[in-house]
Amino acid sequence: MSRKKIIAGNWKMNGTYEEAFKLTSEIVSMVKDEVKGYAEIILAPPFPFLTSVNKLTENSVIQVSAQNCASENSGAFTGEVSCAMIASCGATHVIIGHSERRTLFKEEDDVLLKKVKAALANNLKVIFCIGETKEQREKGIHFSVVEEQLKNTILRLSADDFRKCVIAYEPVWAIGTGLTASPAQAQEIHHHIRGLIASVFSDTIAQQCSILYGGSCNENNAAELFALQDVDGGLIGGASLKSRSFVTIIKAMKD
Ligand code: 13P
Repeated sequence: MSRKKIIAGNWKMNGTYEEAFKLTSEIVSMVKDEVKGYAEIILAPPFPFLTSVNKLTENSVIQVSAQNCASENSGAFTGEVSCAMIASCGATHVIIGHSERRTLFKEEDDVLLKKVKAALANNLKVIFCIGETKEQREKGIHFSVVEEQLKNTILRLSADDFRKCVIAYEPVWAIGTGLTASPAQAQEIHHHIRGLIASVFSDTIAQQCSILYGGSCNENNAAELFALQDVDGGLIGGASLKSRSFVTIIKAMKD
């Protein structure tokens, strides 16, 4: 069964307005209409650049995502950014549950589920991140770790809401380290995740859910990862900050 292929660039906290403008303009001109039909392309810039990146990508196939959102809709939450604000900047997606949010900002499953619900209530699609630490993989508990992360969050949604979510499997030990999950490791855990979805919802819903890989994915390893049966694209960090690398990764989806 065919499902959506997605390449998303998570810029994290990098770049100035000028750099964001340049990077987006380069990607837009390199991508053109070429990828129409085979993959969705999403850019996730920092909050202050959402509107500009959205304007620059308006007439392209590229969509825009936030990297985080508030769990509340409005009010006295200094420094927070609501899903309504994100949507009003033209973004269509939001990344929730990134390991950096979980670890550095102590975001736990209950708050992540609240964020997911806030995003869906504002018609944003969710890129929900899961993944085990190095220590958890060494202990051999990586399957149960990702199961718990999903069972406590998006597997509690209605089937209709779940369909608006994309999963990004990002082993923490592979993020920004230059270490990548081997194709066998990636396929094994993506397949496991799909099986879990089937057991909670249905086989059809599991087959339609896009599961992205993230963690030191680059122009050298993307093609091999994207060729795997249960890998439906990538959530790219470092390599999404260089237009040429990012577009090479996008093209690896096609080849
Ligand atoms: P790197 O591609 O830099 O390892 O980052 C992956 C990531 O965290 C994307 O969200």
